[in-house]
Formats: sequence, structure tokens, C-alpha cells
Amino acid sequence: MEAFVIEGGAVLSGKVQVHGAKNAALPILAASLLVRGEIELVDVPDLLDIRVMIDILTALGVEVEREGHTLYVNTDPLETNIVPEHLMSQMRSSIFLLGPLVSRTGEAVLSYPGGCSIGNRPIDMHINSLRKMGVTIHEYGGTLVAEAARLRGAHIVLDFPSVGTTENILMAAAFAEGKTIITNAAREPEIQDLARFLTAIGARIQGAGTHRIMIEGVPRPTHVRVTHRVMPDRIVAGTFVAASAMTGGDILICGAALEHMEAVIEAFQKSGTDISHDQGGLRVKGKRPIRALHKVMTSPHPGFPTDMQAQLMAHLALAEGTSVMVETVFDGRFRHVPELIKMGADIVVDYHTAVIRGVSRLNGARVKATDLRAGAALVLAGLAAHGTTTVMAPHHIDRGYEKLEESLASIGARITRERVASTLHGAT
Ligand code: UD1
Repeated sequence: MEAFVIEGGAVLSGKVQVHGAKNAALPILAASLLVRGEIELVDVPDLLDIRVMIDILTALGVEVEREGHTLYVNTDPLETNIVPEHLMSQMRSSIFLLGPLVSRTGEAVLSYPGGCSIGNRPIDMHINSLRKMGVTIHEYGGTLVAEAARLRGAHIVLDFPSVGTTENILMAAAFAEGKTIITNAAREPEIQDLARFLTAIGARIQGAGTHRIMIEGVPRPTHVRVTHRVMPDRIVAGTFVAASAMTGGDILICGAALEHMEAVIEAFQKSGTDISHDQGGLRVKGKRPIRALHKVMTSPHPGFPTDMQAQLMAHLALAEGTSVMVETVFDGRFRHVPELIKMGADIVVDYHTAVIRGVSRLNGARVKATDLRAGAALVLAGLAAHGTTTVMAPHHIDRGYEKLEESLASIGARITRERVASTLHGAT
């Protein structure tokens, strides 16, 4: 089995570059289906989730070519609106395809991402919103069949500012008949990036990045030719902030958009990390002692992002004093905790709340990445720990970080990707 093997204790220094944002590139790739034309997407990271989305587009007939970090997408030859189940099940974000496919072809056939059924939490808001826009959606044994001769604008009030739902509505509304208003829309920077892309292909959108977005449905252009640069990945940048903070490092993070990272920068600064704007980048110097944070609560943007919760927790595991983290966005997002405990962390979880009593050192251990950000947190803990840490299942980390081990090694980390035996204790 593959693993990241980390010799802890190296102090990071040097420059590291942030790649394009997975969570912006995925909906933009889905949105490319809305129109016929040639679309050039710049700074698309080469990640597992992106490859799955490209495989889906290819299976639908679209031509996608990669040259480095640029994708050339030709959406003219779209020939089917049936998304293969084996690809759909690999990535929850494949639900993004619903809006664009129905908009362009009047129909979409997809399976449930992860196999849940209508009414269950994960996609109910997507389904209900599209229904309001005139889409008929039926379920046949785990397959969703969506149809709409014409999509029509609607006023949609979201119960919760869901990122994916806001994006699906934006895509469905762009070339619908009439005006769509989304109230309590998500405000994540990735929504603004999608809105910029949609505007480039002809959509008329106001208010992206605020709680109220207005989309004036316009006729679909007959053919487009556009270039779009994907925004930098704020979570990758935040993970590098944690890496420097935890190792007492001094690094320059290039290409990050500071305006997207205020809550993360503030949390690390409060914990004692020295962060400044320097040479066009973000200079991050780790300081000791790390100060505990009395209450950090994840919340939709501009709050502290749930996608940085695990990494901040790894940092706070080494703080002086007791920190409290409350996860309000997702259930069951503390799967890194038992693994951090194996490394000597002192953390107790009660439902949505984790109480982290800082320890003076973490020790290397064999641990398992259970999901993307949990995996990143374990790598960070390994960088700061005494001894060797083996992080099993790095494919989870590859879903969101392009060659994380190479980026970290370039700033002094002792980390390698290796094949290790799977039978040793702790490799569950
Ligand atoms: C996106 C991000 C993910 C991030 C999350 C929150 C992408 C590809 N992924 O995920 O990295 O962690 O935003 O910032 O952009 N919910 C429902 N019903 C729905 C949809 C969502 O109950 O129909 C719930 C979810 O279970 C969750 C909450 O709403 O508890 C937030 O989900 P959402 O904002 O939709 O996240 P995603 O778009 O899936």
C-alpha cells in the first residue's frame, strides 16, 4: 500500500506556490457543459477529483485535453446526458452536472452520489431548488431522471447557504427563462469564480459573493470561445500556513489570495503565528509557544472554513492550554481525532465539539487518512512530531493537493511517498 513517510522535526523554509482551487475548477468544468464552444481553463490542478470530472465529461462526449495546468475543453460534441454510475459514485460533486445537463439538453440521468435517496440530507437542497425552476425529477432504483422542456427562473430561499446548491442554481439559471433570485446564497469565493466564468460565457449575474444573487436568464449563445483562470486554492494555502506554524518554519506562500483567507489568517495569528504580506506573498513564521484558542467555530464563508478545521486542530494539539473547536457545517468531521490521539494528542469529542488539551510533543505513529482534510492534518502532525509518521491511504490527500509531498519537500520537509506493507498493526 502507498503511504507518506515523514521524519518529523524539520524546520520549513523557502518559497511554495499555491495551485488552482479544486472547488472552483470542479463546478466550472461542469458549467462548461452549458454551452457549445471552446473553453480554455488555466491553472487547473491535476488532482484525482478533477480527473474524475474530466472522465465524466469525456464519457458524455466532450473533448478535454490537458497541457500542464491548462485544460482545453471542446463542448461541441456532447452526445449523451447519461452520467455513468461508476464515475458518479466516485465524487459527491458530480451532482453539479444536474443543472448544466438539464439546461443544455432538457434531461439528465445520473445516479445518487454515494447512493443516498431523495429527501436525505446531502442533495435534497439541490433537488428541491431545481424543482422550483421547473425540473421534474424522478427516482428509479437509485437513478435520478431529471427533465425540463424549459428551465424557468424562480425565487429560491435556501435553508442553509449550501455551496454546491448555490452553484447548481447559478448554472441552471444562467440560460433559463426569466429571473432567478437566490436568498441566503453561499458566499464562498469559489461561487464568485463560477459567476465570473458564467459571465464570460454570456450569463448576467449580480451579487455573487453576497447572500442575495440575481441571475437574469439570457438566451444561450450559439458558440463561445473563452479563457478563464481558476482562482488559487485557499485551503491549500491555509494548509501551508499550518505547516510553517507547526514546524517553527519561515516560508513564503506565493499565489494565495489573502482576501479569501481572513478567518484562517486571524485564527493562526491569534495562536501566535507571525503572518505578514511580503514580496507579493504570505510570509508565515511559526512561533513558540502556540497559544490555545478558546473557541473556534466553523461556519460558511466568511467564517472559519470547515475544510481547515482538521489542520487547525493538528496545530492546536501542540498549543499551551486548552482549545475548543465546534464543527457546525458537517456531521462526523472529526475522523482525524482518533489518529491524532495515536500520535499523543489529547482531544475529546462530544458530538460537534472537540476539546483539545495541548501537549508538549506529538510522536510519530502509523496513522490512516480517512478523508482529504483529515489526511492533510495527519501530514502536518507528522511534520511536527518526534520520529517517523506513516500516513496510510494518501490517495485521499491526492484528491485535493497536487503532489503535496513534493511541495513540502521543496521547503525542507522530510517526506516521501513509499510503498509499505499493509499488514502492520495500526494499518486499519
Ligand atoms: C463544498 C466544498 C467542500 C466544503 C463545503 C463547505 C466543493 C466541491 N466542496 O461542498 O469542500 O467543505 O462546500 O464549505 O466545493 N446539505 C444538505 N443538503 C443539500 C446540500 C448540502 O443538507 O442538498 C448540507 C451538507 O450535508 C452539509 C452542509 O449542507 O452539512 C454544507 O454543504 P455544502 O455547502 O452544500 O457543501 P458542498 O457543496 O457539498
